[in-house]
Amino acid sequence: MTADAPISALWPDPSPAPLDDDALTALYRRADTPQLRMNFVTSVDGAVSLDGYSAGLSGEPDKRVFRLLRMVCDALLVAAGTLRHEGYRALRLDEQRRAWRRRHGLAEYPTLVVVSNSLDLDPAQAAFADAPVRPMVLTRDGAPAAPDLAAVADLVHCGADEVDLAVGLAELRRRGLEQVLCEGGPHLFGALTAADLVDEVCLSVAPLLAGAGAGRITAGTPSPARHLPLRHVLLAGDGTLLLRHARP
Ligand SMILES: NC(=O)c1ccc[n+]([C@@H]2O[C@H](COP(=O)([O-])OP(=O)(O)OC[C@H]3O[C@@H](n4cnc5c(N)ncnc54)[C@H](OP(=O)(O)O)[C@@H]3O)[C@@H](O)[C@H]2O)c1
Repeated sequence: MTADAPISALWPDPSPAPLDDDALTALYRRADTPQLRMNFVTSVDGAVSLDGYSAGLSGEPDKRVFRLLRMVCDALLVAAGTLRHEGYRALRLDEQRRAWRRRHGLAEYPTLVVVSNSLDLDPAQAAFADAPVRPMVLTRDGAPAAPDLAAVADLVHCGADEVDLAVGLAELRRRGLEQVLCEGGPHLFGALTAADLVDEVCLSVAPLLAGAGAGRITAGTPSPARHLPLRHVLLAGDGTLLLRHARP
């Protein structure tokens, strides 16, 4: 538990005391069926970033949930844009989280899965070069050859002219990667929403007005609105709201 920004449950079951790690983990537990869970942080006025990065929006409560969601997933899905821009490092978990995974019969680390049409990815980036588990890259049939990338990651072709995300997710599930956590970014979120593949959204709302300029957490081609019921509301000591919405 983090003493300076404890997290309490507000709804539907208010917690009399701050949530400890076990209680928080239970609230974000793995689903009984395969699912795609999104995790984003935003400002009160809906910005995706502050000064171009998500870090400025993310306080300790958001980071605590971020780490927890990584601990409980089988695969961590991220778009190439966010991987490049945010400089993703190797996906590491501390010993306590690895022990939790072992106790629950999971692989020691989740598998990193990157979505890219262009394959314009740097094989030397630590997310690939230093990965504890060989990452996967979901790409399209028409992508350029990328032998250096293929040396450090499994390239999975799903879709002719662009990545077919439903085919990609089916392939993850075929490989036993059923609980998929997606950390964005906005274009991938928009495409997953359009394809009706999003089962759950975990959203941290930072007590900040970012002002004009930044985009939203979703982007790309418009698609029909979809109902996503609220499942819980948590409040952290620093004023961050932690929301979980999921399909019925
Ligand atoms: N607030 C948050 O929680 C949060 C989370 C994540 C990111 N962000 C912010 O979002 C910004 C980055 O956004 P972005 O516009 O670069 O969007 P993005 O969705 O991260 O990346 C777009 C790129 O990812 C690949 N991609 C995405 N969707 C794809 C699809 N359906 N099929 C194939 N490839 C796909 C493509 O890569 P190729 O060009 O390689 O084909 C595309 O150019 C950064 O400022 C980052 O800090 C914020």
